[in-house]
Amino acid sequence: MALDQAHVTSKVPNPGKAPARDHADVLPAFTPALAREMEPLYERVKHVVTPIEWPAFAPLIKAINTFKKERNAAILAHNYMTPEIFHCVGDIRGDSLQLAKEAANTDADVIVQAGVHFMAETSKLLSPDKTILIPDLEAGCSLASSITGADVRALREAYPGVPVVTYVNTSADVKAETDICCTSANAVQVVESLGVDRVLLIPDEYLAKYVQTQTDVEIITWKGRCEVHERFTGEELAALREADPSIKIIAHPECPPDVIEAADFTGSTSGMINYVKDNRPPRVVLVTECSMASNVAGEVPDVEFVKPCNLCPHMKRITLENILDSLLYMQHEVTVDPAIAGKARRAVERMVNLTA
Ligand code: 13P
Ligand code: SF4
Repeated sequence: MALDQAHVTSKVPNPGKAPARDHADVLPAFTPALAREMEPLYERVKHVVTPIEWPAFAPLIKAINTFKKERNAAILAHNYMTPEIFHCVGDIRGDSLQLAKEAANTDADVIVQAGVHFMAETSKLLSPDKTILIPDLEAGCSLASSITGADVRALREAYPGVPVVTYVNTSADVKAETDICCTSANAVQVVESLGVDRVLLIPDEYLAKYVQTQTDVEIITWKGRCEVHERFTGEELAALREADPSIKIIAHPECPPDVIEAADFTGSTSGMINYVKDNRPPRVVLVTECSMASNVAGEVPDVEFVKPCNLCPHMKRITLENILDSLLYMQHEVTVDPAIAGKARRAVERMVNLTA
């Protein structure tokens, strides 16, 4: 698959800041003293991490948190990261909009993006002076790889004068061709902010269809889909509803229209989490990536999370091991071609300023 990685370079290592070492040199033993020191972090994940698993995670977490200080690094963890990453090494946690905004505000010199490549690129656009690292170069996204900058130029020719709103799940090449970005948290607001009758909202056809149900602005879209959310079906949700009519179904707007129709609430990953925290439904289905439920479950012990969920193979490429490698070897640096960075940055900043 063609990933959104046109401007990735890998730097090994960064000798100016710390000498390169391997895991054997930096991983502490899981002694009783380390177990005691790590107890507050274990409290955060003990609902999903067994006491048998913890001795394998704890030394990695300790080493990552030590190296973070040495590098003056911050780890940006998307809501889809596994709990030991999300709760134990993530400094800034949230949906793509929150991560994009916070990347610019942190005073860290280095950002490790525990997420996928378009998120790292967005961080670079908003924090051009920081070093942005992604632990695995293959962490892509089916939406980002569904469209190119040339495709957007062709759309502009086909629809002259129609503004282009681009989902943040795209490459910097695509962002550079567009008027303004949006995320799932602000897509309706961004579309309506333009004050026009028609917009191109690309590349996610399901997000576009959802936004169309929320606005009178005519939406033209593209044929991109999230490979994780497109697999949910209205029938599976109908079966869950039939088995328990009181169940709450919460869906991400990347889901197909019949899934969204079956849902009680639709929102961004953070919107979904907030719904659960605020409403405390006794039983809930989060129709999205599996780690979301695991991450929120510890904070709402009174809520039962019912499957289904689907794994994002790209998000799951990020592990404690490769986050540690990222900090040890300062890999893999994400850069954006200066020829497109200015235009792409303007599209992201326009969105951030609108929703500030
Ligand atoms: P959010 O913007 O809702 O965090 O979604 C990002 C994403 O990749 C969902 O699949
Ligand atoms: Fe992309 Fe879907 Fe994975 Fe999100 S869940 S990163 S939209 S493939």
